Amino acid sequence: MAIAIILTFLLSCFAYFGTSQSTDRFIFNDFRKANLSLDGVSTLITPNGLLQLTDQTVNVTGHAFYPSPMFNNSLKRNNTSISSFSTSFVFGIIPSDQKKGGGHGFAFAISPSNQLSGGSSSHYLGLLNPSNDGKATNHLFAIEFDTVGAGGAFGDIDNNHVGVDVNSMISLESKTASYYGESGNTTTKINMENGGPIQVWIEYDGVNKFINVTLSPISVPRPSRPLISYKFDLSPLLVAEPMYVGFSAATSKLSSSHYILGWSFQVNGIAQELDRNRLPALPPVGESSSSFKRNLQLLVVIPVTAVMAAIAALLYQYRMQRKKQSECLEAWELDCPHRFRYKDLYIATKGFKPSEIIGVGGFGTVYKGVLPRTGEEIAVKRISHNSMQGVREFVAEIESLGRLRHKNLVHLLGWCKRKADLLLVYDFVPNGSLDAFLLNRRDDFVLSWERRFNIVKGIASALLYLHQDWEQVVVHRDIKASNVLLDVDMNGRLGDFGLARLYDHGDNPRTTHVVGTLGYIAPELVRIGKATASSDVFAYGTLLLVVACGKGPIDPVLGHLTLLDWVSECYRSDQIMDVVDPKLNSSYVIEELDLVLKLGLLCCHPKSDSRPSMRQVIRYLNGDDLLPNDDDASDAYLHLDSVKSIYRGMDPKNESTQLSQDSSYGRISTNSLEAGR
Ligand SMILES: *[C@@H]1O[C@H](CO)[C@@H](O)[C@H](O)[C@H]1NC(C)=O
Ligand SMILES: *[C@@H]1O[C@H](CO)[C@@H](O)[C@H](O)[C@H]1NC(C)=O
Ligand SMILES: *[C@@H]1O[C@H](CO)[C@@H](O)[C@H](O)[C@H]1NC(C)=O
Ligand SMILES: *[C@@H]1O[C@H](CO)[C@@H](O)[C@H](O)[C@H]1NC(C)=O
Ligand SMILES: *[C@@H]1O[C@H](CO)[C@@H](O)[C@H](O)[C@H]1NC(C)=O
Ligand SMILES: *[C@@H]1O[C@H](CO)[C@@H](O)[C@H](O)[C@H]1NC(C)=O
Ligand SMILES: *[C@@H]1O[C@H](CO)[C@@H](O)[C@H](O)[C@H]1NC(C)=O
Repeated sequence: MAIAIILTFLLSCFAYFGTSQSTDRFIFNDFRKANLSLDGVSTLITPNGLLQLTDQTVNVTGHAFYPSPMFNNSLKRNNTSISSFSTSFVFGIIPSDQKKGGGHGFAFAISPSNQLSGGSSSHYLGLLNPSNDGKATNHLFAIEFDTVGAGGAFGDIDNNHVGVDVNSMISLESKTASYYGESGNTTTKINMENGGPIQVWIEYDGVNKFINVTLSPISVPRPSRPLISYKFDLSPLLVAEPMYVGFSAATSKLSSSHYILGWSFQVNGIAQELDRNRLPALPPVGESSSSFKRNLQLLVVIPVTAVMAAIAALLYQYRMQRKKQSECLEAWELDCPHRFRYKDLYIATKGFKPSEIIGVGGFGTVYKGVLPRTGEEIAVKRISHNSMQGVREFVAEIESLGRLRHKNLVHLLGWCKRKADLLLVYDFVPNGSLDAFLLNRRDDFVLSWERRFNIVKGIASALLYLHQDWEQVVVHRDIKASNVLLDVDMNGRLGDFGLARLYDHGDNPRTTHVVGTLGYIAPELVRIGKATASSDVFAYGTLLLVVACGKGPIDPVLGHLTLLDWVSECYRSDQIMDVVDPKLNSSYVIEELDLVLKLGLLCCHPKSDSRPSMRQVIRYLNGDDLLPNDDDASDAYLHLDSVKSIYRGMDPKNESTQLSQDSSYGRISTNSLEAGR
């Protein structure tokens, strides 16, 4: 409940800042309602909210400044010149020629004027011109993003660099566009002209006089180490006169469209983080505005008959659409507060368009969506359930689960049923699932140990909430790396809780369905078929091993061994540290890693009553209690063959266990294993 209130509050704050004219900060997640001071023939704001600094016309400049000054004289009078600032923006550059590259680049600028109409094109990026370049009276500060290497007088290091400029186009400091990885030791190059959105953070610390510049593709989280950290005192410049902030871009014979997607700025504080999901989309590479114009001309000459035909087609489509969106409700569905209208979900997911698919899991397909009325981002899981028996009971349960609130759970917002489809509506969690980060599919980004430890702690507290702190015990039944989603700050959030129950209701009571994922299923679950809090602990134990080892629970590289067997074998031969994920590159806290591995083994104890409760797990993770001593409890950590024996005799081709690939794991899906099998 509290979280809901906070969320509502935050949302209204966004709405507020989106349009507010506060004197020391602003934020634009798109530029649709922005009142900027634009200049240069080529500057315009496109209908979808992109700020276009230049199109691909040759030899032009374009400027966009915030209309009122962000630094002004009143600061100077008080002699206290602590004027720190911070800004963040997302840009995209689309060159006119993909192969040869475009030009010339753009810059973030702080300047005494909100119109740099004297700025020249080409290497001057619209900031300065040959007669004023280098003069102290310019009072110009800029961070340039230059995509053409001019040797000689401009001293550029290459044709894809970021530079710090003060009063002059010769950079005081410049670096090839790139970002530091998690370890802070190695950089990955960014091609600024690749057409993809790139986020930039610029911070000036007025006390220590440091200018920091960080940039990274929008698909990776903010790097912890800035690309440029340059000591320079900007205060004489900032207190000089009213100072404006904005962007300037230029083309030459080489030309590009330069776009800004969103921009946030703050004086004496940290600029509010942009909402990456609300930014407008860039036009696809290769589609320049001149080709837009050509298309427009074509449109004009299309004969009227074609237009009529189009209208008729639209009408027909509208009718079909209405038919597709209709739903007929059973009486019991009418008074369920968490029921969504099918029509809203249909519109939110653009008619369940394949391009909106963000995941395909064992239970169904997941679509990203934006709710039409509120603009809220959601994930919609579409489950095609061939027998809709039991759905009513399941819905009753969802109505209760919908009230679960914990910061490490993916919130279930509601549901909708239509014909054979059951749609579940969840919070949208931006960074995808943990298994993608662990199992090599994101090799551009290694999840650090600190983050991994934080994630497993978060999931533990979510499970404790489900098992013990909520009004009834909720058994999750399908804990695994692909059900752990990562939010903006890379905190883990557990998804899909309770879903496994769908397959329990309304069926023949003499058969029991085992639902879960191979390698995460506790031994007794296969024998008795009853999921308990303790079988969740087993799955959590497997998750701990997966996170520490960076391998799936049944990983092809381990041959016939399961991950659990392998870890416990290494434990027996006193080489437990051999199992650690090599991608961590030895940067981890050894005590934490040892704890996670042993706790993983303990949670995977074959006897369910020997496993710790989630409350106890959290006490271990927080260091409140020490794990059982190796000598006292070595059998707790040694249960070789345990899992092998569970799965022995479970042949993938066997009719009663249907194995399908879910990520890199085998997954037991809907078919049943009879109890006692
Ligand atoms: C835009 O800003 C300028 C300068 O502050 C102001 O004169 C103008 O009225 C504003 N326009 C709108 C539509 O807010
Ligand atoms: C570029 O434009 C400027 C004026 O805007 C002009 O003086 C200059 O000659 C042009 N350069 C080229 C190469 O067209
Ligand atoms: C400068 O700042 C002062 C105090 O914050 C404000 O009253 C004044 O209007 C500002 N001047 C301009 C030109 O914005
Ligand atoms: C000037 O600075 C002092 C602290 O150095 C502060 O107390 C005072 O409020 C400031 N005055 C103005 C007008 O900002
Ligand atoms: C402001 O600073 C200047 C030199 O830094 C000094 O001459 C002047 O007296 C100071 N003014 C006040 C009001 O402190
Ligand atoms: C970074 O590099 C330095 C020296 O090259 C090395 O001592 C340090 O361990 C490395 N740090 C990480 C986190 O890899
Ligand atoms: C700038 O980066 C350095 C590390 O390179 C860091 O110590 C400092 O805190 C950063 N400053 C700001 C204002 O972010």
